[in-house]
Amino acid sequence: MAELGFEVIGADTDKHKVDALAAGKVPFFEPGLDELLEKHLLTDRLRFTTDLAEAAAWADVHFVCVGTPQEKTSHAADLRFVEAATRGIAENVTKDALIVGKSTVPVGTAERLRGMVAARIPAGVHVELVWNPEFLREGKAVGDTLHPDRIVIGGASEHAEALLRQVYATPIAEGTPVVTTDLPTAELVKVSANAFLATKISFINAISAVCEAAGADVTVLADALGHDVRIGRQFLDAGLGFGGGCLPKDIRALMHRSTELGAHRAASLLQQVDEINMGQRERVLDLAIDACGGSVLNRRIGVLGAAFKPLTDDVRDSPALNVAAALHLRGAHVTVFDPEAGDTARASFPTLSYATSIEEAVEGTDVVLVLTEWDQFLVADAAHLAQLTLSPRVIDGRGKLDARTWRDAGWDFRGLGRAAA
Ligand code: UGA
Repeated sequence: MAELGFEVIGADTDKHKVDALAAGKVPFFEPGLDELLEKHLLTDRLRFTTDLAEAAAWADVHFVCVGTPQEKTSHAADLRFVEAATRGIAENVTKDALIVGKSTVPVGTAERLRGMVAARIPAGVHVELVWNPEFLREGKAVGDTLHPDRIVIGGASEHAEALLRQVYATPIAEGTPVVTTDLPTAELVKVSANAFLATKISFINAISAVCEAAGADVTVLADALGHDVRIGRQFLDAGLGFGGGCLPKDIRALMHRSTELGAHRAASLLQQVDEINMGQRERVLDLAIDACGGSVLNRRIGVLGAAFKPLTDDVRDSPALNVAAALHLRGAHVTVFDPEAGDTARASFPTLSYATSIEEAVEGTDVVLVLTEWDQFLVADAAHLAQLTLSPRVIDGRGKLDARTWRDAGWDFRGLGRAAA
């Protein structure tokens, strides 16, 4: 928002984060964000506070961007933070304002929040609440934010829409389409987008099992499918499946909400998507056990990758770490290397060993698993790495390694949905 030319206060209850940001330090890895933060601390357009009341009294437009994590037992979205942030704004506004929900919420939430806001704002002040879902990807957050592929505005009056069009004037001038709609549609666009992406991944992963059984190659198949513009090549990479802080929890929350609303077929479709996805972790585990001759007990295993995908240090629901931990539980000695996510991984899984280079992770191993497709793993010197192992066996959990290069370098190469040598 500062880059788009506005004066911004970022408010958070976490003092560590606020202090780090105020000192110019982004508390996670996101390409390009450090530079932007540094730039706008200097332009004085951006500051940070833990004082929500101060931010609520100061701003004209309030974006609610807090998390909606998965509730442990029901898998529904936990709305405590969204409610607390919205309530905090409503109770502390001192002038007419617009509250813009960006968090990913179950359909129906915004309408409820409207009632809460109306009951809490001071007399004489006019506050409107609209929904404007967020579609950025981790690792590409800066580009996705400055150049979004669409802007969805839900439930806005003419005045509120005009205000938001002012906020997004730069991307709109660049041609970003604006979709205006009601509150429930705006809420549902977000979760449906993530559910569709998840379904696409689970589709190709289900087909990868057929490929494997039939001796076909899912990578070539995906390329061929992708040439059909109705299908498209993106999100057809078969492998370990989706993880992270969004796709898994969003499909489960949508499953839960669909069931509540009586849309049982939608819920059962999403259930399958989830099951296929979690099953991929088992398939990779089975490949590793098989490569070790039926048991990984006391075997040395190198795991390349810990983040849920490249270009992030996020390990929330990371399929890579999940597999690494499962191998450890089965008695293997597992050493993990990730170029960015070593520290976050260690904080979540302290019992695993961590290396500081590919070579260190591969040294003396019985099998190597490539579980996050960082570029540096794809271009690694396979011949050199083969020399370091006890036995050069590799499992490509992401379908991105060049099988021929690795086989030519002496590796026993296995992958999901890939033809055997
Ligand atoms: C996802 C969506 O892509 C964003 O549009 C959305 O805004 C965001 O969630 C959110 O709700 O906040 P993100 O979680 O950053 O973004 O990650 P993705 O790039 O979507 O990847 C998700 C997972 O799918 C990763 O684990 C990735 O490895 C996996 N994936 C992706 C595959 O297994 N195969 C593919 O072909 C593509």
